[in-house]
Amino acid sequence: MVREKWGTKLGFMLAAMGSAVGLGNIWRFSFVAGNSGGGAFLLLYLTFVILLGVPLLLAEVSIGRKAESDVVGSFKKLAPNTPWYLTGFFGIASSFLILSFYAVVAGWAIFYFWNYLNGSYFSSPEVGYEGAFGQFISHSWHPIAWTALFMILTIIIVLSGVKKGIEAANKIFMPLLALILIGLAFFSLSLDGASEGVKFLFQPDWTALSDPSIYIAALGQAFFSLSLGMGAMLTYGSYLRKENKLPSAALGIGIMDTFFAVISGLVIFPAVFAFGIDSSSGPPLVFITLPSIFEQMPMGGIVGLVFFFALILASLSSSVSILEVPTAYFMRILGWTRFATSVVMGAIMFVMGIGVSLGFGIWSGVTPIGDLNILDSMDYIASNILLPLGGLSMALLIGWYFSKSEALEATDFTGSGIGQVWYYLVKFVAPVMIILIFLNKLGVI
Ligand code: TRP
Repeated sequence: MVREKWGTKLGFMLAAMGSAVGLGNIWRFSFVAGNSGGGAFLLLYLTFVILLGVPLLLAEVSIGRKAESDVVGSFKKLAPNTPWYLTGFFGIASSFLILSFYAVVAGWAIFYFWNYLNGSYFSSPEVGYEGAFGQFISHSWHPIAWTALFMILTIIIVLSGVKKGIEAANKIFMPLLALILIGLAFFSLSLDGASEGVKFLFQPDWTALSDPSIYIAALGQAFFSLSLGMGAMLTYGSYLRKENKLPSAALGIGIMDTFFAVISGLVIFPAVFAFGIDSSSGPPLVFITLPSIFEQMPMGGIVGLVFFFALILASLSSSVSILEVPTAYFMRILGWTRFATSVVMGAIMFVMGIGVSLGFGIWSGVTPIGDLNILDSMDYIASNILLPLGGLSMALLIGWYFSKSEALEATDFTGSGIGQVWYYLVKFVAPVMIILIFLNKLGVI
């Protein structure tokens, strides 16, 4: 079977940006930053994106392009007769963990879209937005129905194939989302009391840095937001043609992704302080904050409608890249069609998503890790542990298994000065930082 390819380099760029930009930038970024002390977290996050994120993104895409295979197959092909390919299964495992909660949260977004569509969120419900949200997520099957809808949409795009499905879906809604977010940021900054939020986001509280959890949180957020370490970017890279140049693409994706995160911080935190919302509300944070912003805005009902529409589309362009990882792998291993594989994988993730959703209702007492509920536990294992380990494996492959000239050639960096910097970042800086952060968290150092 001939492997599929992107139509154009722009198509790849848009799909990769679409993968990176999603709920991670708006929903996850806000609540993790809110939980981890704001400014100090932002600073660490930006440091990790620059020193680790973008260099590893380039490494990951180049592995896929060189091997032209899925996350397990690529390691097998490039490092034959080594156990390297086993780390590919971290990626497969993360894809199931991540999409099963991602689809639940995206389902919440569809529910909000629906509420703006029928006008019920044009003014605050009797119990307030926080109360209404709490009632909704703890309902036994309402949120699950929206999760199902989101999963079905994801499967439809993935089974339509790389070029027609994923590439075409990305071109319209990214610019739309950017425009709305910028507009919202201006509005949010004009609210009374907004400056507290700006301070929270940009004035680091250095004492926060003494807690080891903040490093692993910022690392996990950098990986999650850039879609890194799982093989999504690797798999997308495997559909690239050899003549497409990689370094500029990786940089572009990194800049775009960071831009979306910072802008959403500028939307959320001024409003969080202006409306007296608790910045450490966790996953519900944006779902409480945003409708309060829309209610204050002129034409807010319409803006809310368009915003949630764009957010759903951005989530879809991310979720398809997650589903694509096991789909590409199991298609090859089981010899099934793309259709059958994506439906079966998506169905398994949906069933796992039911558990995640019930974690806000009848299973709210279930806390697999510490005091973390089901969603937070799955997110913790996938984002803070498996993704960085996947990234570590890729960094070691490029830095230590490949020769230097192979590494530079794989990334179109032959003869480039920046290529030297990149090489040392991937060979030494990234692995050392990831290992130190793990050891620090484990209390070893
Ligand atoms: N980066 C996406 C977001 O910010 C989510 C995502 C897509 C992802 N593909 C991934 C996260 C692969 C980790 C790994 O919403």
